Amino acid sequence: MTDLAAIKMTVNGEAVSCGVAPRETLADFLRQGLELTGTHTGCEMGACGACLVLVDGRVVHSCLMFAVQADGSAIETIEGLSDRSVIADLQEAFHERNALQCGFCTSGILMTAHGLLSLPGVPSRDAIRDALSGNYCRCTGYEAIVDAIEVVALRRAESRQTEEAGA
Ligand code: FES
Ligand code: FES
Repeated sequence: MTDLAAIKMTVNGEAVSCGVAPRETLADFLRQGLELTGTHTGCEMGACGACLVLVDGRVVHSCLMFAVQADGSAIETIEGLSDRSVIADLQEAFHERNALQCGFCTSGILMTAHGLLSLPGVPSRDAIRDALSGNYCRCTGYEAIVDAIEVVALRRAESRQTEEAGA
C-alpha cells in the first residue's frame, strides 16, 4: 500500500488537512477527496481546460498538478467562485447568450474568463479568443462564449468608470 503524504491547504476559504497518495492529481483530490465535482476532467493531459482551478490566484490545470504540490496553497474551485458570487455576472451572461449546452466545459471556461477579466483593461474579442484557446468546447462553437465574456468585460469597465466618476 502506498504511504500517504500529509497535506494542508485552504480550499474555497476552508482549511483542509489530510493524507493523499503521492501520485494523486489535484483534480482527483478535489473531485474524489473533497467531492468538489464542478472541476471536470476530460483529457487529463493539459489540453482541454476542463480542470482549471485557481492556485494562489493563478489559473492552473489541476490534472497536471499533484495534490502534494499544492501543499500550503490556497485553492479556489468553481464552487468557491460561485458561492461567493464572484462570477455571478459571468454566469448570468452565459445564460443570457446561451453560451453553454451540455456545460461540461463551462467551469473551466469560467475560470479562464475570470482570470482574463482579472487583468487590467478591457480584452478585445481576439484576446478573449486567445485566452479561450486552451479550452475545448464541443457544443457551442465559441461565438456565444466570446459574446458573453465580452459583454461582462464591457459591463465591468462601465461600472468601474461610474465608480471612479463618483469617487
Ligand atoms: S483534464 Fe486537465 S486539461 Fe483536460
Ligand atoms: S457546452 Fe458542451 S462541451 Fe462546452
